[in-house]
Amino acid sequence: MTVPQLNPRTDSALVRAARGESVPVTPVWFMRQAGRSLPEYRALREGIPMLEACSRPDLIQEITLQPVRRHGVDAAILFSDIVVPLRACGVDLDIVPGVGPVVADPIRSADHVDRLRPLQPEEVGFVAEAVHGLVGTLGRTPLVGFAGAPFTLASYLIEGGPSKNHELTKAMMYGAPDLWHRLLDRLADIALTFLRVQAEAGASALQLFDSWAGVLSRADYAASVAPHSQKVLAGLADLGVPRIHFGVGTGELLDLMGDVGADVVGVDWRIPLDEAVRRVGPHRALQGNLDPAVLFAGWPVVEREVRRILAEGAAARGHIFNLGHGVLPSTDPGVLTRVVDLVHEVTAA
Ligand code: CP3
Repeated sequence: MTVPQLNPRTDSALVRAARGESVPVTPVWFMRQAGRSLPEYRALREGIPMLEACSRPDLIQEITLQPVRRHGVDAAILFSDIVVPLRACGVDLDIVPGVGPVVADPIRSADHVDRLRPLQPEEVGFVAEAVHGLVGTLGRTPLVGFAGAPFTLASYLIEGGPSKNHELTKAMMYGAPDLWHRLLDRLADIALTFLRVQAEAGASALQLFDSWAGVLSRADYAASVAPHSQKVLAGLADLGVPRIHFGVGTGELLDLMGDVGADVVGVDWRIPLDEAVRRVGPHRALQGNLDPAVLFAGWPVVEREVRRILAEGAAARGHIFNLGHGVLPSTDPGVLTRVVDLVHEVTAA
């Protein structure tokens, strides 16, 4: 007999897998499931700039729900962006289509760092309103809230935009450690406030994206980044919602990323999940890790890879199926729906 899943914060497959509890099926959702792969998203966004869409509760809710309706995924992820809380506390930035976040006046001096002020929860009231509404509409489906981790946020703020080599970021990290730690401490507070707003409004799980942490050595990650990510995750402990921590190319950092206080470690496609279990240890769940490019290779390859990942993920304390990074904009959404169905079919008890 199955137990009705009524409260997503305790009974959903996502939360249960995150806690290492038994699940009726392996839960599946996709990073960037809301976005340009969906024609209904492109239609709704027509003529509306990204950051405007991220500040309107009606649009946030509708865009967040689109992939849930279409794919039957086991979680919604809030439609927002890692730079939304930065803009809300006064940083002059925009998201440029095809480029990413661009900062008008990049942070490169003590004066700049001192001008970065704390985020007040009211400044992201539009997010709290959207989350409240979503939790009501989603019913038993959990909503994942998220924020960018201090290092990834710092990278955009210091470089002024996306960067391949992160040279200005590393120059501050190595050359001005006091300033670096002051900046990351402020960003930790901003990320923490943004995540608490989402959890207090009803999000069932929280994901901290340290997308670019994979450019760091273990020693530099441990000394210059980990204490700040730890501050964020420790500051969420009292809320009792699972904390997922994800980065790209972080195979060599997986244990350290778990140790900063994650319940679930997100893994990209470079490391098989059974190897990730060895690196992270048996006490945390894993999320991942289908290469988003595999979705372009034809169904027989997709099916083989999904089955392989499910088999490897069985070694984990809990497994949340996801991609190894976000859905690419030209992905055929029909393939994503088939992946959801396959994960459920293969793992149904
Ligand atoms: O479904 C979801 O995953 C929710 C939405 C989401 C977005 N951004 C929406 C978005 C999430 C979780 C993010 C987080 C985010 N934003 C990260 C961390 C995750 C990651 O991808 O590693 C980062 C690094 C950013 C910064 C950012 N914002 C980039 C690099 C871009 C792409 C720019 C482009 O046009 O290619 C954005 C814009 C963005 N964020 C889009 C979406 C749907 C595309 C904007 C559009 O549709 O016009």
